[in-house]
Parts: sequence; structure tokens; C-alpha cells
Amino acid sequence: MNIIFLGPPGAGKGTQAQRICAALNIPQISTGDILRRAIKEQTPTGLKAKSYIDAGGLVPDDVIIDIVKERLQQDDCKNGYILDGFPRTVPQAEALDTFAKMDAVIELDVADEKLVERISGRRVCLKCGATYHVSLLNGETKCAVCGEELIQRADDQPETVLNRLKVYHAQTAPLVDFYGAKGLVKKVDGDVPMDDVFASIMAALGAQA
Ligand code: AP5
Ligand code: MG
Repeated sequence: MNIIFLGPPGAGKGTQAQRICAALNIPQISTGDILRRAIKEQTPTGLKAKSYIDAGGLVPDDVIIDIVKERLQQDDCKNGYILDGFPRTVPQAEALDTFAKMDAVIELDVADEKLVERISGRRVCLKCGATYHVSLLNGETKCAVCGEELIQRADDQPETVLNRLKVYHAQTAPLVDFYGAKGLVKKVDGDVPMDDVFASIMAALGAQA
């Protein structure tokens, strides 16, 4: 199954994509993770992307479309995948239509007021993409999956988060209508405990846990 996760920053796309991918044995394709790794490794794409990400804006469509198009050609995508953070603009969605066919779009719904608190407490692993919240880490500073030191994302400062939210509502939220017109959108309440969000997404996909 080819699935898109849509939702504002902090809605839980990465958290749930990791869990659903493990359950369905398909890869998570997070454009944010790909870009952060590129920045860390100082690749040409990373150098180009850094200023946009640091400001909470979007990386230009052509850069990100090429990355995703190439990634979807890899072998592990044959049985499906979750796109986490792509598409994010109507031109990206139109481009995606030309090289892949989607089966479902999960819209994770969380009110803006909740998102800033969630994001300010987030810690991430840049190596494997695992996501945590300080309130549940009990002082642990290393990734439970791969042992890497956890960090706070550079774009998780409150003023940058507010800009990311603005950008989401202006440029990405219109995709709910874009995919709604195709009958693909399943709206899931993201403001309940993580296990309940997981169960709702599995049910929306018609998948067995
Ligand atoms: P990206 O990395 O995609 O960031 P985002 O969309 O802003 O989303 P986040 O990763 O911040 O949130 P999330 O929904 O994954 O939440 P998470 O699971 O971590 O993109 C970053 C940047 O890269 C963009 O701003 C842009 O510059 C660029 N970019 C990426 N893709 C692009 C594209 N297609 N085009 C152009 N530019 C692009 O959860 C958040 C926190 O909440 C965690 O601490 C978690 O533990 C906690 N949490 C999760 N679920 C729950 C729950 N149910 N209850 C309580 N807490 C919870
Ligand atoms: Mg994420």
C-alpha cells in the first residue's frame, strides 16, 4: 500500500510512520529525515536545504521532488511505503501523480495550541530517525533503537515552529482538498495517546495489528 501522512509539524507523523511501517513491513520515507541527514553530511543538497529548514520555510519543490522520485525507484518500495512529509505543496502532489499512485492519505489532526508544547519537548535521533519526548525519556540521552546521542532539532525553536505552522496552513493544508477530491483522505484524531492513534490509523487502512 502506498500511503501519505499529512499533518502539521508535531502532529505525530514521524512517530506513527515508524510504527505503522514496522507493522506493515514497508519503508518510511521522511523527506525531513533525508534533508537533515544531508545537512549533517554537508552534501550539495544539504547545503542548499539548510537555510530554508532553519527558517521554517519549505525547500524548493524541484529539489524535493527529485529526491522522492529517486527514492521511490529503490527495491524496498515495491510493496508499498509511507510518505512522511511529502507532498507538502500542490505542485509536489501534482508531480507525485506523474510517477506514483497513492492508495490512502492519513490526515493527522491536532490543534495548533498542542503542537508547540509537543515540539519543544521533542528529541530525535539523526541516525535512525527515532523520535522521543523529554517527558517520557526519564533523563535518557541516547537513542533506544541505535544508541546514537539524541538531539533537539535546529528548527524546533518556538519562533521557527510558529513559522512552520503558518507555512503548513498556507501551503500544505490545501492538500486535504486535493486528495479529498480523489476520495483518499482518512482523518485521524492525533490528540489521543500514541497507542490509540496507532490503532485508529491501522483501522483506517483496513490493516490488522
Ligand atoms: P519535517 O521533518 O517533515 O517536519 P514537520 O512536518 O514540521 O513535522 P515534524 O517532524 O516536526 O512533526 P511530526 O508530525 O513528524 O511529529 P513527531 O512524530 O516528531 O520537515 C522539516 C523541514 O524540512 C520542513 O520545515 C521543510 O523545511 C523541510 N521539508 C521536509 N519535507 C519537505 C517537502 N516535502 N517540501 C519542502 N520542504 C520540506 O511528534 C512530535 C512530538 O510529539 C514528539 O516529541 C513525539 O514524541 C510527540 N508525540 C507524538 N505523538 C504524540 C501523541 N499522540 N501524544 C503526545 N505526544 C505525542
Ligand atoms: Mg517528523
